[in-house]
Amino acid sequence: MSYLMNAWYVAAWDEEVGPNALLARTLLDQPVVLFRDAQGHAHALADRCPHRFVPLSKGRLCADGQAIECAYHGLRFAGSGQCVHNPHGDGKIPAAAQVRRYPLVERHSCLWIWMGPAELADPAAIPDFSCMDPAHWHVGKGYLRAQAHYQLETDNILDLSHIEFLHPGTLGSDAVKQATTELRQDGHTVWSLRQTHDEVMPDFLYAAMALPQGMRVDRWIDVRWTPPANLLLDAGATPTGRPRHEGRQNWLPHLFTPETATSTHYWFGISFPKAMGPAGEQLARQQIAGLKVPFETEDLPMLELQQQAMGTNDFWAQRPVLLSGDAAAVRARRVLDQLIAQERATLASTETLR
Ligand code: FES
Ligand SMILES: [Fe+2]
Repeated sequence: MSYLMNAWYVAAWDEEVGPNALLARTLLDQPVVLFRDAQGHAHALADRCPHRFVPLSKGRLCADGQAIECAYHGLRFAGSGQCVHNPHGDGKIPAAAQVRRYPLVERHSCLWIWMGPAELADPAAIPDFSCMDPAHWHVGKGYLRAQAHYQLETDNILDLSHIEFLHPGTLGSDAVKQATTELRQDGHTVWSLRQTHDEVMPDFLYAAMALPQGMRVDRWIDVRWTPPANLLLDAGATPTGRPRHEGRQNWLPHLFTPETATSTHYWFGISFPKAMGPAGEQLARQQIAGLKVPFETEDLPMLELQQQAMGTNDFWAQRPVLLSGDAAAVRARRVLDQLIAQERATLASTETLR
């Protein structure tokens, strides 16, 4: 399996890594342990003790949160990955007693991890999800783990023509397949734009869009994809015929990180401005609970069945039929394939020069 290595991936929601806790998570086939030190700074280390290779996540945080103590023989490792304590013999620390540290940045309510060489990690390259900045937004947060390839998840969000069929009672309506759609690309960013006309939406969406239930509306659902698999929905609705700026805009991130070649971590959210006060917080909670139902009971089983049917075969080798709604997903796949190919070519030429 080849992943894009020089990229920022979500490793966790900020709140998933609490004080005095070790979170074990496999990312891009690599076992990682996440924790916070006494100052609250989050760290990510390879989850493998260099002594006898047990997971460090089975140990405990010690020295005031400054180090993980291995559960087997007690070596301690700081957030830098360096061993800082050896309880055996003269206590000398062997030079090889260190574990890999992954660059980790807390931003937009997420912990972003860099899986490539640390010296290439540039936090400025983290995609803009400022719609989840906790200083200004109430963020409803959800998480699912899917037994499906992460690009199937991207396909799913970039082609929302499925909501009419897979989510008729929760997200879709008869108007979705008649929507006006448009594909845009700006550098490595792909947009899938969708505008429905004069539809009646599923009930719970009206509260998010501040409209009376049952009203006929024009709805927009614009999806932004940035590689490798981070998507942001900009959705909203206005009374039929009214311009978009009169509607309330909803931001809904869908963030995917491959766990393995056939499984994916999936973080989804919805944000409402802090200026709404407690009502915004309540709305974020209610909407995320409402959204989780179709995501968990409709999308998730469908994608897992899709993965089972595909097995370990390459997606393109199975010659999928392409429909009009696939345009953005196909474009995103091409961009990602190119980026991975470029990265591998650069790596190969660097190794040749050595
Ligand atoms: S396996 Fe970790 S200290 Fe021995
Ligand atoms: Fe869906």
